[in-house]
Amino acid sequence: MANNLLAGKKGIIFGALNEDSIAWKVAEKAHEQGAEFILTNAPVAMRMGSMGDLAEKTNSETFSADATSMEDLDNLFELAVKKFGKIDFILHSIGMSVNVRKGIHYTESNPDYYMKAMDVSAVSFHKVMKVAMEKDIMNEWGSILGLSYIAAQRVFPDYNDMADAKTLLESIARNFGYHFGARKKVRVNTISQSPTYTTAGSGVKGFDAFSSYAEDNSPLGNAPSGACADYCISLFSDLTKYVTMQNLFHDGGFSFTGLSHSVMDKYKK
Ligand SMILES: NC(=O)c1ccc[n+]([C@@H]2O[C@H](COP(=O)([O-])OP(=O)(O)OC[C@H]3O[C@@H](n4cnc5c(N)ncnc54)[C@H](O)[C@@H]3O)[C@@H](O)[C@H]2O)c1
Repeated sequence: MANNLLAGKKGIIFGALNEDSIAWKVAEKAHEQGAEFILTNAPVAMRMGSMGDLAEKTNSETFSADATSMEDLDNLFELAVKKFGKIDFILHSIGMSVNVRKGIHYTESNPDYYMKAMDVSAVSFHKVMKVAMEKDIMNEWGSILGLSYIAAQRVFPDYNDMADAKTLLESIARNFGYHFGARKKVRVNTISQSPTYTTAGSGVKGFDAFSSYAEDNSPLGNAPSGACADYCISLFSDLTKYVTMQNLFHDGGFSFTGLSHSVMDKYKK
């Protein structure tokens, strides 16, 4: 369904590792809707993942950047300035926790790993926007998006230190969003997505259980990644110009459902 919603718009998309990645779907749809963009990922992901195929398919350039490195970000944004002059959208679709990867319990978090999770999954969002602001690369009414999860508000015990990272990410969206809006008329939001089968998602302990529970406890069921990408496109488009500093739930109604009939039925005696 191509409506040219992003015709003439330029952007940067972080985090397309493989076909399952949310960023991958966003890139496909942004291309369909007429956008041009640079695809970027961490050096190791560029080697291990399949972003080259996506670049070919969407006619985009790729750039290797660790989103925690100010130097890498500086080089990436320099390339964007050279290629596009100004840009209209940025997708930050990045998450990683060493504590999660190593199966270390939240209460026993290794503090260095914990800080790494904050840096990669949240502070990098601040770093990206800092560089974007310094280089004055965003067009007025541009749109910057990060991806979050409801563990920022409610406890999901095995989501581990990523819960704290998501809380920080959403706070950065609000605070940076204020300044970017007031100075440059740029909007900043996070989308809080349903559990989704991706490399990062499935790495969380008990993922099957909380994905199935969310499916049962959402009137519309879990939102698939393609639908998440559609939502991202709408937020990059001019149809949502006054939406900023929000955490927007894209979860089939899970966040506002106390108890669904489907879950109730499982507890009936
Ligand atoms: N999958 C889910 O259930 C789910 C639900 C809600 C929110 N999210 C969020 O969506 C976003 C995208 O994750 P995904 O589910 O598509 O998984 P994914 O594994 O496909 O994407 C995560 C990406 O982060 C990148 N990354 C990790 N460290 C990096 C670094 N230092 N610099 C640059 N990039 C780095 C990875 O290379 C990868 O491309 C994440 O923020 C994740 O927390 C996912």
